[in-house]
Amino acid sequence: MMNKLFRNASITTPFDPGTPLAGKRQGEVHYFKHGALYCQDGVIQAFGEEDEVLKDLSPSDVDGEIDCEGLCLIPGFVDPHTHMCFPKRREEEFTLRMEGMDYLEILRRGGGILSSVRAVRASSEDELFSVTLEHALSAQRFGTTTLEIKSGYGLATEAELKILRVIDRIGRETSLDVVPTFLGAHAVPEEYQKAPEDYVELLIHNMIPAVSGQGIARFCDVFCEKDVFSVDQSRRILQAARKAGLGLKIHADEVYDLGGAGLAGELQATSAEHLLAASEKNLRAMARRGVIGVLLPGTAYSLRKAYAPAWKMVEFGVSVAIGTDCNPGSCYTESMPFVFGLAVLNMNLSVSEALVAATLNAAYAIGMAERVGSLDVGKSADFLLLDGESPAILAYHAGVSPVVKVFKGGELVFPL
Ligand code: NIG
Ligand code: FE
Repeated sequence: MMNKLFRNASITTPFDPGTPLAGKRQGEVHYFKHGALYCQDGVIQAFGEEDEVLKDLSPSDVDGEIDCEGLCLIPGFVDPHTHMCFPKRREEEFTLRMEGMDYLEILRRGGGILSSVRAVRASSEDELFSVTLEHALSAQRFGTTTLEIKSGYGLATEAELKILRVIDRIGRETSLDVVPTFLGAHAVPEEYQKAPEDYVELLIHNMIPAVSGQGIARFCDVFCEKDVFSVDQSRRILQAARKAGLGLKIHADEVYDLGGAGLAGELQATSAEHLLAASEKNLRAMARRGVIGVLLPGTAYSLRKAYAPAWKMVEFGVSVAIGTDCNPGSCYTESMPFVFGLAVLNMNLSVSEALVAATLNAAYAIGMAERVGSLDVGKSADFLLLDGESPAILAYHAGVSPVVKVFKGGELVFPL
């Protein structure tokens, strides 16, 4: 048994009431000015004001004592939405976009997601692993301790399974907790462009059963978008996924208001993600049905689009989470501090609301809140030390990561 005491930190954390936080509670965090955290074999046993924590401990309870030097301690970030399993960047396409070419127009011309599909199909599993590992370790340096990674650049049964095996290996060979999501419905692959319905049938009758049969994904996601998958197709795909035992997520109303957020409400999906263009009616449906809104402010930034109406969602009672969307097309960043800053400055969330969004609510969005997402007794001792007085430093010190140290299960994982 290894018992560690982390002391001399100012601690800010949400507490987990057993449900995601929403509405007036979206920003509910607790603060301990002279805080300490005590863990046993990486599991939190006690935390709070240092005096209180020490009262219940005898010297023999502590094998190691770590002085946090007065730094700000928060839970590790949970990034609930990434597409970081890709072998090649798309820098040329970025330049075209900055010259005015539309994101979906690039996809229609066979670029975008489809160019990543060609790259994935041409790469070996080891090549794909080594690039994905770089992305994942970079995320960890920016404070991510748990993350979701979606497939979706294979768009054929074997290629999707290859990606999911790589994602699984990232979870096994790093200290990160990784949640795999099957996104075979990310685009219609080139070979099915003339018969998109046949691809939907392949997804339902072949790919989803293969993925669930291997127990290699926790969730199924669909890119419900104009000229990609319609609401009706998305519904059929997600219903098949539910039958196969997968949790449901949906890329909803990222570019056009197609009604994906309403579908998420109808199906009581775990989350609807993006939501830049979602209607008020459908956002209210999400609130009623307990669907978490996963917002990706880096994507609005990178696509030069209006941000998702985060404050409205808070007002309507939607639990808001934030993530990076790390992908080679619409948003190439693995930095949670960067999207945290955008959430506060450009989406008008308060610092506390953004902190809940980036930790506890994000953990709920990927089914991990029992183990991570907040400092609570019994959860994994995943936390960060920030060079600042409070989590505000994440937004205040713009473009710079204030993450000084990252601990996963009570072990230092950055810097090593
Ligand atoms: O979340 N919207 C679809 N998928 C990604 C982008 C993928 C890509 O361009 O490679 C997104 O924005
Ligand atoms: Fe995405």
